[in-house]
Amino acid sequence: MTSPVPFVEQIAAVVDASLKTIAALTSSEEVAQATPGLVGKKSALSQLKSSMGSIADSEERKSAGQALHAAQTSVDAALAAKKSECEATEMAAQLLREQIDITEHLVAGTTRGRLHLVTQATQRLEDVFIGLGFQVAEGPEVESDFYNFEALNMPKSHPARSMWDTLFVESEEPGSVVLRTHTSPVQIRVMQNWPPPIYAIMPGRVFRRDTPDATHMPVFHQIEGLVIDRNITFKDLAGTIEAFTKAFFGDDFTSRLRPSYFPFTEPSAEFDIRRANGSWIELGGCGMVHPDVLRAGGLDPEEWSGFAFGFGIDRMAKERHNVEDIREMYTNDLRFLRQFSS
Ligand code: FA5
Repeated sequence: MTSPVPFVEQIAAVVDASLKTIAALTSSEEVAQATPGLVGKKSALSQLKSSMGSIADSEERKSAGQALHAAQTSVDAALAAKKSECEATEMAAQLLREQIDITEHLVAGTTRGRLHLVTQATQRLEDVFIGLGFQVAEGPEVESDFYNFEALNMPKSHPARSMWDTLFVESEEPGSVVLRTHTSPVQIRVMQNWPPPIYAIMPGRVFRRDTPDATHMPVFHQIEGLVIDRNITFKDLAGTIEAFTKAFFGDDFTSRLRPSYFPFTEPSAEFDIRRANGSWIELGGCGMVHPDVLRAGGLDPEEWSGFAFGFGIDRMAKERHNVEDIREMYTNDLRFLRQFSS
């Protein structure tokens, strides 16, 4: 007959088996499933605890109690350690699955884009004029006949309207809504909304039924300038244009004004700049704001006077970068556009 296995050895065997079971667990779900069998009411440890009463010798019972307590502690600790180990692994795996790789496009080797030539020129123009004390304003591209023509001293039958080949927008009253042919309508909007004195520039896109060629596009960009103050003279206009020419193109460039005609300025002039090679190119129109235009903007011509100008931005960009044909700037050929970094 074999003698019964001593109690402490039974405990050691249970601990050994429990720790092996715990070591083999691989997920927090498995840990949760195994926990009742290892430390619950029906576990081997609990059964040993309830059989302790059968130990007759009190010393032996005491040391069995201590061994059982130590066993319980080590199984509990191993289970807790396994649980947090599994949870940490699972969390790391989840983060890896859910992470968004925001560097992906760089890794793929694509390059950063550049600002378009015309955007670069517009930003430079804004910088130069802000440096001269001007503020920037904007107006709508779809404009009413009133702002595009009428308020600029061109009533319905005025022959000067034919200076701009206009694109009309379908509307209830045919001919009353246009794609603006120039940025000059923004002059009126600024006068109506800003109290004078006014020192403003108004860059934007304009539209004309022009056939594309080396210096013309049907959609292009202008920058309008408007100064309204007391006692403004033609000398202030010429001085501003010269200061701008040097700041934008460089000190070896100079400007000149040639007599011209615009219905909204009187007197009017065409503004040319002289290139480094001595030749002249036309950049825009300018003049003293016509009294009727001041009135349309809500200002009293007896009190206020001013000058205005409007330049073609695309042509300026073309000149600054020696682009031969303005159309090249719009073919979106990356080999062309990449030559011009901002
Ligand atoms: C005007 O549009 C007037 N509003 C300018 C002005 C403003 C005069 C304030 C007086 C006071 P013009 O039609 O000349 O003027 O156009 C001005 C500039 O826009 C031209 O000198 C040219 O540089 C540019 N431009 C005109 N048509 C085109 C086009 N189709 N493509 C590219 N640039 C153009």
